Amino acid sequence: MIFLSSPNISGNEWKYVKDCLDTSWISSVGSYVNKFEEMMAEFTGTKYAIATSNGTMALHISLLLAEVKRENYVIVPNLTFVASANSITYTGASPIFMDIDENTWQMDLDLLENFLQTETELINNNCILKKDKRIIRAIMPVHVLGNMIDMDRLIALTNKYSLSIVEDATEALGSYYKKKHSGSLGLMGCFSFNGNKIITSGGGGMLVTDNEQLAKKAKHLTTQAKADPFEYYHDEIAYNYRLVNILAAIGVAQMEQLPGFLLRKKEIDVYYKKELSKIGDICFQKIMPGIEANQWLFTFRSKQQKKILKTLNEKGMQSRPFWVPMNRLPMYTNELYISENDKSGKIYSECVSIPCSTHIKDEELQAISESIKSCY
Ligand SMILES: Cc1ncc(COP(=O)(O)O)c(C=O)c1O
Repeated sequence: MIFLSSPNISGNEWKYVKDCLDTSWISSVGSYVNKFEEMMAEFTGTKYAIATSNGTMALHISLLLAEVKRENYVIVPNLTFVASANSITYTGASPIFMDIDENTWQMDLDLLENFLQTETELINNNCILKKDKRIIRAIMPVHVLGNMIDMDRLIALTNKYSLSIVEDATEALGSYYKKKHSGSLGLMGCFSFNGNKIITSGGGGMLVTDNEQLAKKAKHLTTQAKADPFEYYHDEIAYNYRLVNILAAIGVAQMEQLPGFLLRKKEIDVYYKKELSKIGDICFQKIMPGIEANQWLFTFRSKQQKKILKTLNEKGMQSRPFWVPMNRLPMYTNELYISENDKSGKIYSECVSIPCSTHIKDEELQAISESIKSCY
């Protein structure tokens, strides 16, 4: 089996994990957690990074810190992994699903602007949805596949309509907008170190921010809000969302290799684009000027989607369709979906993600390309 995007364990992972085991520092405190946080803050150009058990939890905490409350709304793209929407639901708020741009496969900013202009009003500096008077508190751009939207335009819109930005940068480690790292442009940004991501700690996440107060609060909320170093005195209802040291040790080893992994992802992207760009109706996600995408998961679009998925998977070349759009999931069908002609549905039904692990061999890339060509 050639896996879609599997971990590349080829650095100091064993050494650092052994260190944790030898010293018994395996649990929720330890030097690797701090080191991992320092490395992420430095890499993303943010002042603070707080490690969490996974990306979903980083999103949940960020939304709480953005003061998203029960009965509020949060705007999120309709084409995303379910964790983005679920993290909103955990707060008691509801998602508003925004359709995507057919070329970039990210949230459609024209549609968003039109929606804010026509469907909302500002009252006491709160963005209110006219039809039910509920507050839209925040927006969660998702940097789908490591691509990004026009963040300057989004920031201008959120300033005008008084919305906080929580970036779902879970797929976008190593992606930049005008030289600024993903996750560093909003109030907070969140990353995932799940096994399929560009680096992994097995499971893990990170919240980054430049705001000291929010950083302190994030650490507090992820550690059961223990307010006294000795006594078990907790000053609010909080969570056990902290990353453990033994997993952070893997994360540190992976961070050391990140520049090399990013280079390999780019090589894979160049290779596939060269091989596939003139085949049938194949086309790729558009990357707008000013954006440097990490090329995390190689995905293309074609009407032959089903045939390609069948062919590749039968040959042990693990390939996947895009996520089922949020408005089609049973728990979200009744939520607001802002769309003109369901582009998320269209992209979902035509996209294919193909193997692109950083340790993939050149012969494997060639075999996969040949198998795709044979479908036309
Ligand atoms: C877009 C998106 N959001 C959120 C997540 C959640 O991250 P995690 O799996 O670490 O909880 C992921 C990845 O799995 C993702 O791809």
